[in-house]
Amino acid sequence: MPSSVVACAAALTLAVPCRWPLSVAGNSLTGRGGCARQRDETWDEGERDGVGSEESQRRSTTLEGFRVLGHAIRREPGIFVLSTLGSVLFAVLTVADAWVLGWATDHVVIPAFETGEIGAGLLWAVLGLFLGVAILRAVGIVARRLGAGVMQYRMQAHTRRAVTRQYLTLPMEWHQRHPTGQLLSNAYSDVEAAWAPIAPLPMALGTVVMMVIAVVQMLLADVVMALVGLLVFPLVLVANLAYQRLASPLMTHAQGLRAEVSEIAHESFDGAMVVKTLGREGEETERFRAKAHELRDVNIRVGRIRAAFDPTLASLPNVGVLVVLAVGVARVTSGQTDAGDVVTVAYLLTIVSFPIRAIGWLLGEFPRSVVGFRRTRAVIEATGSMPHGGEALPTTPVGARLEVDGLRYSYDEEAPLLQGLSFDVEPGRTVAIVGATASGKSTLTSLLTRLVDPDGGRILVDGADLRDLAHGELARSVALVPQNAFLFDDTVRGNVTLGAEVPDEDVWAALRAAQADGFVAALPHGLDTRLGERGTSLSGGQRQRISLARALVRRPRLLILDDATSAVDPEVEARILATLRHGAMGDGDSTGGSDTTLVVVAYRKATISLADDVIHLQDGRVAGRGHHADLLSSSPAYARLVNAYEQAAHEAGER
Ligand SMILES: Nc1ncnc2c1ncn2[C@@H]1O[C@H](COP(=O)(O)OP(=O)(O)O)[C@@H](O)[C@H]1O
Ligand SMILES: [Mg+2]
Repeated sequence: MPSSVVACAAALTLAVPCRWPLSVAGNSLTGRGGCARQRDETWDEGERDGVGSEESQRRSTTLEGFRVLGHAIRREPGIFVLSTLGSVLFAVLTVADAWVLGWATDHVVIPAFETGEIGAGLLWAVLGLFLGVAILRAVGIVARRLGAGVMQYRMQAHTRRAVTRQYLTLPMEWHQRHPTGQLLSNAYSDVEAAWAPIAPLPMALGTVVMMVIAVVQMLLADVVMALVGLLVFPLVLVANLAYQRLASPLMTHAQGLRAEVSEIAHESFDGAMVVKTLGREGEETERFRAKAHELRDVNIRVGRIRAAFDPTLASLPNVGVLVVLAVGVARVTSGQTDAGDVVTVAYLLTIVSFPIRAIGWLLGEFPRSVVGFRRTRAVIEATGSMPHGGEALPTTPVGARLEVDGLRYSYDEEAPLLQGLSFDVEPGRTVAIVGATASGKSTLTSLLTRLVDPDGGRILVDGADLRDLAHGELARSVALVPQNAFLFDDTVRGNVTLGAEVPDEDVWAALRAAQADGFVAALPHGLDTRLGERGTSLSGGQRQRISLARALVRRPRLLILDDATSAVDPEVEARILATLRHGAMGDGDSTGGSDTTLVVVAYRKATISLADDVIHLQDGRVAGRGHHADLLSSSPAYARLVNAYEQAAHEAGER
């Protein structure tokens, strides 16, 4: 599995927990209050994109549509020129075809009728002329279509890459504010919408040339009839503007709804188990149906508008032809022109109607394109990506030294979560972090691994501030095993190595240290067994152990476990911790140094008591620090907490 895919999937899934539609399921990682607030912000964005600024959007859609195309042209000038030249060639030859026909009639057909014979040379010349024009027209079509296609798909690929690359660099805070469904629709339907006008662009430009030639010919044939015929233009323009005015806000709205539908679908599939076990299928289906119907209704309204305008736009030139014929007949009768010119002008007017329609197709794509472009821009231009420094961490296989100094962090300014948290962990030591639910333990682990940056204070690993480290340095030395184990739909090996080149012995050593070797060996294909989406074929405890092995195989110098073995049997959990602590990963086998520094968020007494040191986290500060036994006797608050945990753990067992 390519690492970018993994990282992207991880980034996508990280955004999931923040929105939970059902009132039943809480998630200890995400506070309901915080999420509700963030969700509203997301909704506001949708509204802004949707109906909020209709007026200003209507005015600027056409201009902005051209500007969006300008981006594409600047990025792919070569292919754009090629396809436009192809289209111009086609347009010129379409008009030339008429000229060749006329020339052949005058110089070959009529003389042949008159003299009763035809020169072979002349016949070949005419044939060659027709064939030449046909071949060149074909070349023009191929160049136009191919060019437009290549340009469109290149732009799509480019934007998709930019958007997904940005997903990877944007910080956790951004991801928590943007639901996964929206990320999917940004990368998929918004990109598609943004570059949709590239397809008709060369055609529209080529037909402008066709139109100019036809108009000049019309004027040369008969100025009065030409002017009468050309009255069609302002009418078409007005009709087009009216169409844009009506359709544009609806299309904008539809694009926003597309994102919402995808969001709901993603969420209900994601929460399938909760939905099913709590019998909420009906409600979920209803939620999806309501949104899907809303989208359908908006699309139908767009369709109705299209249905009214398309035939109007298509028939206006025909009306023009009728008017020209009427005027022409009158002029022929009064001897001001001859029948041939009437036919010429009428014919040219039908030629002109095609460019008008082609330009209409182009303009018709603008509303959706502008919206899609804006939505993808919003991602690409989102700020907050974490700057990296240039420092490196030592590569020696000894444990890292960790210093946390005056750390402050809050999700909600009114209720700061961590307020001046300070502690040190010496290399190779094992420290347990113990604190009540929602005391900020998981947040601390996110800070330690720089998923988020602190509001104040600093974190030093081997004396280097995390913010000064070069990109990738931290991930090389520090590993986090999160509270919720996430497995990919891949083999055991793929889940442990995440695509890195790791020999099987090392994979097994990591699995052994995570106490996972036994059940993996018993799987039908061992390391090659596929685990299904999110590893659903394993139990919670087994998933946690694979997730732990994934961290161990990277031989981290600082390993952070956030409640990472909560679903594992207490005895197995104790064994894992003892193994990690006593450097079993290091006794002879190569899975990491024997002195890995361990920070363990834990709640079981047996686990906690294995730690060299316990940090009791309370009210955003270190309320006590020492060995478990000492804290038990010296701090009543600590004793109450671990005893309450012990009770809960007793009732849980292996989940
Ligand atoms: N993404 C988030 N947005 C808003 N609030 C959050 C978020 N993540 C956690 N919180 C809140 O911060 C507090 C601490 O959460 P957490 O660090 O997960 O605690 P613990 O791991 O100790 O149970 C909780 O009140 C939680 O609701
Ligand atoms: Mg937690």
